[in-house]
Amino acid sequence: MPGYSSFIMGKAKAATKSDGKNAGEGQSPNEKNEKNPPEEQVAGILHPETPLVEDERDFSLRPRTLREFVGQTAMKDNLAVFIAAAKGRQESLDHLFLTGPPGLGKTTLAQVVAHELETDFKVTSAPALDKPKDLAGILTTVTEKTVFFIDEIHRLKPTIEEMLYIAMEDYELDWIIGQGPSARTIRIPIPSFTLVGATTKAGNVSSPLVSRFGITCRFSFYEQPEIEAIIRRSAGILKIAIEDDAAALLGVSARGTPRVANRLLRRMRDFAQVLGAASITRQVVEEGLKRLEIDALGLEKHDREILRIIIERYHGGPVGAETLAISVGEVVDTLEDYYEPYLIQSGLLQRTSRGRLVTDLAYKHLGLARSQSDTHEANGFLF
Ligand SMILES: Nc1ncnc2c1ncn2[C@@H]1O[C@H](COP(=O)(O)OP(=O)(O)O)[C@@H](O)[C@H]1O
Ligand SMILES: [Mg+2]
Repeated sequence: MPGYSSFIMGKAKAATKSDGKNAGEGQSPNEKNEKNPPEEQVAGILHPETPLVEDERDFSLRPRTLREFVGQTAMKDNLAVFIAAAKGRQESLDHLFLTGPPGLGKTTLAQVVAHELETDFKVTSAPALDKPKDLAGILTTVTEKTVFFIDEIHRLKPTIEEMLYIAMEDYELDWIIGQGPSARTIRIPIPSFTLVGATTKAGNVSSPLVSRFGITCRFSFYEQPEIEAIIRRSAGILKIAIEDDAAALLGVSARGTPRVANRLLRRMRDFAQVLGAASITRQVVEEGLKRLEIDALGLEKHDREILRIIIERYHGGPVGAETLAISVGEVVDTLEDYYEPYLIQSGLLQRTSRGRLVTDLAYKHLGLARSQSDTHEANGFLF
């Protein structure tokens, strides 16, 4: 049975790590090349899409337990119940679907769930699962109740996705042995595991897959006091002294995103050090944000550029996502997943069926006046 043994023996290409300590982004090298973001974006403080090396270094910043996990209260409270119930019944937790913009804690929560369940944790990302044997290679090594995390689950290939359906539902693997007329399918039982799937694009996940998740957690941007709490927590762990009003000011510019908050904190530590301040004071933060060209709403230069381009070249919109992406030199995915959610959340941009529109607030924020030819519909309609 060559097929059978090759997948049992074959080493899965997928980047699996089960030490529970990794930064868990699980991206394959290919994946990084494929979506290779522009230099500027990698360097950007506020761009939570691509984890920076230093994010991975700071394992210590990742909350380990639900108790340490700041914010997302309603979601967390429900999860605590489901986890306690599953543990009480000595069953695996139902499959868990995590959606939301980058940097809000999806990977972190997956690890927290494994920790709370006191189970193994395995991580991969959809683009790393190229062939069915890559998935089979992982699923045949999971133990009972393992938390198996697949990042970017909207990018699964159809063949892998079908295999996953059966694994999720029946805890079995369909495996084809042989070729041509003599080929037959055998079903191999696997331990009952918990799949945790994360995506920034919930809309792109097929409905048969979505329907197989028993629990859905939708992440929303963090409230100001929560972000401040995260900044103070991280400062404590990194042993950085930060004054309360400095943390508050920094929190405003963190776009409701923990990954951004942590990055800004590290940069402010650099500024404090170079400016010779003993701790991060409000003055250090003011100076630091100015130097990084981050404004009071937490927008970076490129965010403002996007708004400006819509206003100056497209009369405030509507402009289609594709056209806009080309105009601002981004791929559509980056524009939609990273830039737009926060601009929308801040009330600066609207997504409509005919394209993107800036709001009055965007004009005001940039200090630009609406000209006669500019559209006014953005503020009257929702879509
Ligand atoms: N609820 C939270 N409380 C404290 N820190 C958090 C929280 N969520 C995320 N973080 C921090 O933000 C960083 C990014 O989170 P991550 O889970 O990688 O985001 P995502 O997977 O959604 O892109 C983590 O390294 C962690 O330190
Ligand atoms: Mg992640």
